[in-house]
Amino acid sequence: LKRTVITTSDGSTSIHLPEWNEQYHSKHGAVQEARHVFIQHGLNLFTDRPIALLEMGFGTGLNAFITLLEANKRNLSVAYTGVEAYPVDLEELRALNFVSVLQAEKYAAHFEHMHRCDWESFVDISSYFTLRKQQQFFQKFSAVDEFDLIYFDAFGARVQPDLWEEAIFQKMFQALKDGGVLVTYSAKGSVRRALQAVGLEVERLPGPPGKREMLRATKPIKLTG
Ligand SMILES: C[S@@+](CC[C@H](N)C(=O)[O-])C[C@H]1O[C@@H](n2cnc3c(N)ncnc32)[C@H](O)[C@@H]1O
Repeated sequence: LKRTVITTSDGSTSIHLPEWNEQYHSKHGAVQEARHVFIQHGLNLFTDRPIALLEMGFGTGLNAFITLLEANKRNLSVAYTGVEAYPVDLEELRALNFVSVLQAEKYAAHFEHMHRCDWESFVDISSYFTLRKQQQFFQKFSAVDEFDLIYFDAFGARVQPDLWEEAIFQKMFQALKDGGVLVTYSAKGSVRRALQAVGLEVERLPGPPGKREMLRATKPIKLTG
């Protein structure tokens, strides 16, 4: 698929897929969306202990980079696994303006390292952030009781409906620890019902600018004995 770098309403860049008329982030603001959905309603739930985080759709690394900045700011250790089948190329990378929009010039080398580092094993990017990129299809992903938090950031159900169905969410349920949380920008009724059908407890939360709602799903804590 053809990909072009675009600028969204908050001045931050994203990637556009003309054939699907789909973006990697909200047209209303890539950075705003990432901060609202994944940081405010996801990462901010965790304050006091190291966490294991899974991102479905590593893409431009925007969510990962903002998470690294937050981890460093708050002395929160994050082990970040990013699953991605179609990595961005270096020309696209050069056209992304996240470092300047986030006023994170001090971390420019970290952003570059996140993209250039090896795949398939954990690499220290900063003292609080380690990254494992996995080049893989979501459909092949598998993990058990491993993650505290999942950023579910596939393309929309309009263009990739199979990634928003129970089979994938069953994998997400398995991958979460008890009490673990999945956040996504989607608020579709069919997505909410599929998340509930695999056993997750789902909340509707206010969405980022330009979207009324988003979803957050929690894996219930098993009561024993
Ligand atoms: C909405 S974008 C993710 C944006 C990303 N989180 C960011 O911050 O830039 C969805 C991503 O999923 C990837 N993708 C699409 N289909 C996939 C599949 N079947 N398996 C794995 N990755 C896939 C795309 O290449 C794209 O990078």
